[in-house]
Amino acid sequence: MLVAEGLTKTYRLPGGGSLAAADQVSFTVPRGGSLGIVGESGSGKSTVARMLVGLERPDAGTVTVSGRDRATRPSALGRHRRAARLARAREIQMVFQDPYVSLDPRLTARQCLRTALRLHGHDTKGTRIHSLLDRVGLGTREADARPHQLSGGQRQRLAIARALAVDPRILVLDEAVAALDVSIQAQILQLLTEIRDDTGVALVFVSHDLAVVQHITDETVVMRKGAVVEQGPTARVLGAPSDPYTRLLLASVPHKGWDPADAIRARAAVDAAVAVA
Ligand SMILES: Nc1ncnc2c1ncn2[C@@H]1O[C@H](COP(=O)(O)OP(=O)(O)OP(=O)(O)O)[C@@H](O)[C@H]1O
Ligand SMILES: [Mg+2]
Repeated sequence: MLVAEGLTKTYRLPGGGSLAAADQVSFTVPRGGSLGIVGESGSGKSTVARMLVGLERPDAGTVTVSGRDRATRPSALGRHRRAARLARAREIQMVFQDPYVSLDPRLTARQCLRTALRLHGHDTKGTRIHSLLDRVGLGTREADARPHQLSGGQRQRLAIARALAVDPRILVLDEAVAALDVSIQAQILQLLTEIRDDTGVALVFVSHDLAVVQHITDETVVMRKGAVVEQGPTARVLGAPSDPYTRLLLASVPHKGWDPADAIRARAAVDAAVAVA
């Protein structure tokens, strides 16, 4: 249903030169599917996520949803053009790591959802707002709270509820559980799995946390310096990786007897091997 084909983005650097933040990144996600994008900090994960939702324009490559290219402008005029634009925005919704940035501090949870529903011409009746709040496990007390009166986990639930308000086909989550403690992380992951089963929404899950990706995705893309080094079924890619960089990522996850110095040495070895190749 979602097809990313050859997504490429190069940033011009202020001092001259350029940086390939994403280079020929391609993948597909079926309806109700779940794809993980992993890689170390700066590997280009967020750049790809932003191109998917249209926050960033690719230098090359396309994003199609159900066969329609998202970059082509709606041909309709005026009011219809606005409707077409909103319809496209509804297809893919994004949830960020820090919902503080994307939630309006003046609005209570209830008002936030009402605003999202109204913008997209949905029914804003209390029942719909309640079922959304209920779906993400927020109660009546939270419904009347503003973002600063919610915990980090509750704010993230609200951000997810708002994204779901417009019945997206695809939900892109960029490090959406990274700032949460493990028990809240587990709750949100469980919630996402349920929502995916119930609604058929597809998930694109950007994370540097391999355990989380292992748990929630069917397919995984491993990125390094803007390029895809390995991709395929999550069980294979993270269970029996064929690329040295993927193996390194897995070995770098803290575990019993783990020594950061070993991880740093292994990293230098892979960099040297790549430089030679
Ligand atoms: N607007 C921009 N202008 C210039 N360079 C950018 C811009 N956005 C990102 N970059 C650079 O592109 C590279 C990829 O950044 P990106 O945010 O996609 O990485 P990431 O994999 O999401 O990292 P993290 O795990 O730290 O979030 C980085 O080197 C970053 O500095
Ligand atoms: Mg990022």
